[in-house]
Amino acid sequence: MTKNRIAVIPGDGIGMEVAQVGVKVLSALSEKRNLGLNFKWFDLGADRYLKTGETLPQSVFDELSSSFDAIYFGAVGDPRVPDMKHAKDILLGLRMRLDLFINLRPIQLYHEKLTPLKNKSVKEIDMVIFRENTEDLYVGIGGNFKMNTPDEIAINEMISTRKGVERIIRSAFDWAVSHGKSKVCMSDKANAISFAHGLWQRTFKDVSKDYPQIQTRHVYADALAMELVRAPEDFQVIVTSNLLGDILSDLGAQLVGGLGLAASANLHPGKVSLFEPIHGSAPNIAGKDQANPFAMILTGALMLDYLGYAQEAVLIENLVKDCIEANIGTVDLGGQLGTQAVGDYLVGRIQLL
Ligand code: NAD
Ligand code: IPM
Ligand code: MN
Repeated sequence: MTKNRIAVIPGDGIGMEVAQVGVKVLSALSEKRNLGLNFKWFDLGADRYLKTGETLPQSVFDELSSSFDAIYFGAVGDPRVPDMKHAKDILLGLRMRLDLFINLRPIQLYHEKLTPLKNKSVKEIDMVIFRENTEDLYVGIGGNFKMNTPDEIAINEMISTRKGVERIIRSAFDWAVSHGKSKVCMSDKANAISFAHGLWQRTFKDVSKDYPQIQTRHVYADALAMELVRAPEDFQVIVTSNLLGDILSDLGAQLVGGLGLAASANLHPGKVSLFEPIHGSAPNIAGKDQANPFAMILTGALMLDYLGYAQEAVLIENLVKDCIEANIGTVDLGGQLGTQAVGDYLVGRIQLL
């Protein structure tokens, strides 16, 4: 059964610019293919927080969790809010409160010219990172004592639960099986973080017994950062913790052309899920019509797939690949178009389908 109720949260900075383009492209496709996609925009972000003190009001959270199939999210982060208070409530708040335990981040090379690595073909950089998304140092448990004194103590607790670790590892294995992949690599820092990541090691061993057809491997996260650059072809599915997955996925994004191309999905299968590019609000280019909207558009493809429109998802991905092939894009990819013009070009292509 397909679904079509989409909440749009553009957020801050380039989030607003790329969300406009993403929705324009998806709307054009919806019209062309009669998908009946329905968009409702939500004004959440730094501007609202600075004006009213509101971040994610309870009534908005209730509406998001009960009246939508998916949330299409731009980015949050604003230099005027250095402690990221609003972003923590909105983005991390939605991830935690909607229990979006899978942060799926595909790292796929669309064209050889995009990778900074020498002699790597598109077949050699094609993997998916399964980032745990509800635990770890991200739970916000901690505090400061004697703040701004020489005796200050700062604590952030790192949480790993058997349930949380097992469900993300199992999801990675299930995805490997359903997508015809043969390798799953788990990455942690159990050599230093022995309690929490010891749990990851034991759980990975236990769960892997249920998937005898899958080849398993463990690589410490520091070594993995190196291996991803040296031999990305060795990896198909990587499962890791929240913080390590955050870092490794930016590294992965650069292997395939940068943050302007990197999409992600925050999933709880069967429940309202949130789709966002990996990049942030990029204050250094915000308001200049320079942001690459492909990450947001490819994120739209991940969302279409989740909503039940697999063919349309592939169609969007192919349109982006065509653009890359023809050097049609923003400056970060060596192109000459602005953010909105890339969107208009794609809308034109969709209307001609
Ligand atoms: P960033 O991803 O915003 O930018 C990093 C670099 O990549 C910048 O040079 C930027 O110009 C470039 N870049 C990013 N997206 C691009 C795009 N679509 N097209 C072209 N260039 C692009 O990371 P940052 O600078 O570390 O963070 C800026 C703010 O965004 C911070 O407040 C941060 O906390 C926040 N942030 C939010 C999210 C999110 O909402 N999911 C993700 C990452 C960072
Ligand atoms: C991401 C971002 C967020 C994260 C920030 C904005 C809290 O970097 O989505 O990758 O660390 O998860
Ligand atoms: Mn990140």
